[in-house]
Amino acid sequence: MVENFGFQVLATDGLARRGEISMPRGTIRTPAFMPVGTGGTVKAMYMDQVRALGSDIILGNTYHLMLRPGAERVARLGGLHHFARWPHPILTDSGGFQVMSLAKLRKLDERGVTFRSHIDGSPYEMTPERSIEIQGLLDSDIQMQLDECTALPAKPSEIERAMELSLRWAERCKTAFGDQPGKAMFGIVQGGDIAALRIASAKALRQMDLKGYAIGGLAVGEPQPVMLDMLDITCPELPADKPRYLMGVGTPDDILKSVARGVDMFDCVMPTRAGRHGLAYTRRGKINLRNARHADDPRPLDEESDCPASRDYSRAYLHHLVRSQEALAAMLLTWNNLAYYQSLMQQIRDAIEAGNFAERAALITAGWARGDL
Ligand code: GUN
Repeated sequence: MVENFGFQVLATDGLARRGEISMPRGTIRTPAFMPVGTGGTVKAMYMDQVRALGSDIILGNTYHLMLRPGAERVARLGGLHHFARWPHPILTDSGGFQVMSLAKLRKLDERGVTFRSHIDGSPYEMTPERSIEIQGLLDSDIQMQLDECTALPAKPSEIERAMELSLRWAERCKTAFGDQPGKAMFGIVQGGDIAALRIASAKALRQMDLKGYAIGGLAVGEPQPVMLDMLDITCPELPADKPRYLMGVGTPDDILKSVARGVDMFDCVMPTRAGRHGLAYTRRGKINLRNARHADDPRPLDEESDCPASRDYSRAYLHHLVRSQEALAAMLLTWNNLAYYQSLMQQIRDAIEAGNFAERAALITAGWARGDL
């Protein structure tokens, strides 16, 4: 068994990297997509299905799990892997981002954030030290620093203040995390849409010699070209021998374009959330199954897919399930969407190994444009 956290780049094609993160609970093939398992479940999926689709790691949320069922309780029950029946690696987000988007009566200062739960209004405090403590109680394999993510557009002075605060919190999280050879704590680059701030953030985090680096504060309201510019600027500032994780991104198109710029890891609610709203991701683009045009369509979403949800159920039946608000609609569409995302990641990894990533990306993109024939 591997005892230490490690990362190896196995092949490159342009700036795109094919790699492997190894750790005691398993190996993560990169570029990787991490399904979002916010509260200890990838919504509408069995863990066995998530695994069978080729997921090497899933994401959990400090914020949700601390509120319900509580981090100490999860620890008493054997940790998140045992509790949720996912024995493979888990990455946890630190809580800052979710506090800012979900919690009530937030107050942020140097020490941390105080807030009230969006579930029952009860008060909490989140500091860098408490975030790392909670991620440890959950037994998370890859832990994230507490940070402050600025929604865009924002004033430069506000972006700079949050970026500087996030750097000080990164130092505190590093100290709190200490030396845990089989696990990792990642820093998070902030700096909004300002190149100089992104570079300063990346350089300062690099000095801390962390085991991996996330790029945060993107896909938060800015157009895609701005996000891609920020990746162009940030990735070269990060060490080549450490994994790079673009947080909360994205669409299949965002993923192709970010891999081309050197990103190794992704997470996004899109495939799972869209699946619960009647949307299917396919080789031929997105299909809205709520639409009446599917009511008499006997074709499956994708007759060539290996995934039963994509191959064996008619669009007419899926349309009926969505319109009837059946639980099975969410289950089948989430299954289809995660199957599509993971097959996309496999194609990306294969193409980088074969040295034809740009050509393959162009073909994949052309498939979406061809539409739902
Ligand atoms: N998820 C998406 N973006 C971010 C971010 O900037 N910070 C954190 N902690 N989580 C995120």
